[in-house]
Amino acid sequence: MNILVTGGAGYVGSHAARWLARAGHEIWIYDNLSRGHREAVPAGRLIEGELADTAKLAGVMVARQIDAVMHFAAYALVGESVADPAMYYRNNVLGSLSLLEAMRASGVRRIVFSSTTATYGEPEKMPIREDFPQRPINPYGFSKLVVEHALADYAAAYGFGYAALRYFNAAGATPDGDLGEDHDPESHLIPIVLQVALGQREKLTIFGDDYPTPDGTCIRDYVHVDDLASAHLAALDRLHEGVALKLNLGTGRGTSVRQVIDACRRVTGHAIPVEIGQRRPGDPPELVADSSLARETLGWKPKYTQIEPIVDTAWRWHKSHPRGYAG
Ligand code: UFG
Repeated sequence: MNILVTGGAGYVGSHAARWLARAGHEIWIYDNLSRGHREAVPAGRLIEGELADTAKLAGVMVARQIDAVMHFAAYALVGESVADPAMYYRNNVLGSLSLLEAMRASGVRRIVFSSTTATYGEPEKMPIREDFPQRPINPYGFSKLVVEHALADYAAAYGFGYAALRYFNAAGATPDGDLGEDHDPESHLIPIVLQVALGQREKLTIFGDDYPTPDGTCIRDYVHVDDLASAHLAALDRLHEGVALKLNLGTGRGTSVRQVIDACRRVTGHAIPVEIGQRRPGDPPELVADSSLARETLGWKPKYTQIEPIVDTAWRWHKSHPRGYAG
């Protein structure tokens, strides 16, 4: 198929694009490089453009005879979304609506959308199933939830087929060692811990150790970025008119901040000094996926189920690219 990958220069998008290309699909990356990296895109495959440019998107879809869209392009930082919600509603909501309109105008009706665990807010029970109430607690989560609703309505009214894939904590890097996580500034736990191991930071601040969890630190479900990529491929195969898939992507295994740090110590051999800081506003104590629906629907099974091998791939990337794509 001919696939348009928005945000394909970003972290998850670049890994998924590689999987698509390896599976024999013709890929076109549509990215404005505001957060993505030119170096993460295969030669000759980048189309620089804004999501807001509906006419350009529609033109690309017609010219490249696009069969389906994978939509990764979005801002994805909770704290930033609280500080500047306008930016999130504009890019994530209006940008996505522009993309959907371009699809309608050019007759493309299949889309895989990057959604998030942040659409659930703070669920009362774990693990999280897809039928749990979606009550986001920040603008980022809301911006993704609005698009999920738009997709459901476009499916019902215009015959779109879609998959909303709700990622838990994307982590790791391709073992090939040439694609990985590169955010500026970095806010995610594993890259920050590895920056301590590289000597780029003095220590890690643990954001709160008084949560109601066994070791007092927050628990997350870290899912390898290549496993996310393989789920996108599987979802693409099942997209037909009117299909609506809403699926959690996680391993079902919760790992605390302290357990992540211990795994990083084992993998890197570095002591990783830590200090205990304040809780970070908006951090739920625990987020763990029930991904049985993705297993049943897509036949998807994450290859990486333990934190250490995930950290190991991230470490290979950070060691070989201490300044990210810049070198
Ligand atoms: N953490 C620290 N110190 C740090 C950085 C993070 O203790 O320096 C902790 C956080 O408090 C949290 C855990 O490590 O408990 C994981 O934090 P991340 O920032 O790596 O990831 P989040 O769980 O906050 O964010 C992820 C995705 C978001 C998504 C969110 C939903 O990156 O896109 O889950 O909750 F919105």
